[in-house]
Amino acid sequence: MNRVTDLLNIQHPIIQGGMGNISNAKLAAAVSEAGGLGTIGCGTMPPDEVEEIILQTKQLTEKPFSLNIAINVTPHVDELLALSVKHQVPVVSLSAGNPSPYIPFLHEHHKIVLAVVASVSHAQKAEAAGADILVAEGYEAAGINSILELTTFTLIPQVVQKVQIPVIAAGGIGDGKGLAAAFMLGAEGVQIGTRLIATQEAPFHDTYKQQLLQASGTDAIIIGRSVGTIRRVLTTPYVKKLQELEKKGMSMENYRHYTSEERHVVAALEGEVEQGFLNSGQIAGLVEDVPSVQELLNDMVNGAKKQLAKGMNLFG
Ligand SMILES: Cc1cc2nc3c(=O)[nH]c(=O)nc-3n(C[C@H](O)[C@H](O)[C@H](O)COP(=O)(O)O)c2cc1C
Repeated sequence: MNRVTDLLNIQHPIIQGGMGNISNAKLAAAVSEAGGLGTIGCGTMPPDEVEEIILQTKQLTEKPFSLNIAINVTPHVDELLALSVKHQVPVVSLSAGNPSPYIPFLHEHHKIVLAVVASVSHAQKAEAAGADILVAEGYEAAGINSILELTTFTLIPQVVQKVQIPVIAAGGIGDGKGLAAAFMLGAEGVQIGTRLIATQEAPFHDTYKQQLLQASGTDAIIIGRSVGTIRRVLTTPYVKKLQELEKKGMSMENYRHYTSEERHVVAALEGEVEQGFLNSGQIAGLVEDVPSVQELLNDMVNGAKKQLAKGMNLFG
């Protein structure tokens, strides 16, 4: 029995993490069609653009998918919640902020609510507020991370010990071994981001995919500590320049300018890596090919089964 697949009505407990402003209908639908849960990352997109992507996704799949709303990132939380109702999106994932005020509305409209958390106390608060599933994310992950900087390996068992609702592990998972490990830590599913960048359906510029293929784990670094907000990105000349500015003392306003969604889109979708940054998690070092999403999910599920069977023999 797996509570995550039951609640989300999906085949495999593998979820696409929201990728604000840059993922599209094709990738979300490919993940859902492959048996996982595709996600439309709203980022800072205006509601009419998000609505268009929802409609396109519905053209491509009849399977469930989710809408990721990054609470403190978008100025459009209420409009995006309304869109999930208007278009009957069955799952809403709330990240980057306190999900509590929005959960009653979503439950009134029969949504399954995923809350992304990075500590036990946030997990307990989200559970108390009625979240259906927690996504517990370690700071190995790509993109905006929690300044608490807990790793996935330590975060998952601590959260699982303190909550009753299902937990999905995020941060640093890219293959069947990672999926098996997440199960063994007590998670009932995984959320992946970095690994999905290098898939055939991902709408990202080839430069992004190639840089990810060439990267090692140490090439995915944290920026923003000096201003008190962190993000994991690939080391590129753009990011090195930003690091130099941080060393000299950077204002939050300036940091926000350098790490705006606009600077992300320019690099990730248009390949202008001198003009913007590329999100990546530490699992980058594992990424060596560009499979289809279906191939990736099949490999992860089969690889996890093999690894779990092998595990019993490792006691000697
Ligand atoms: C390109 C990219 C953009 C992301 N944007 C968002 C976002 O808008 N909202 C969010 O909650 N997480 C975002 N994330 C994090 C993912 O949803 C996911 O939780 C994370 O990538 C999992 O860790 P991994 O990268 O090690 O697989 C993003 C990740 C990537 C790779």
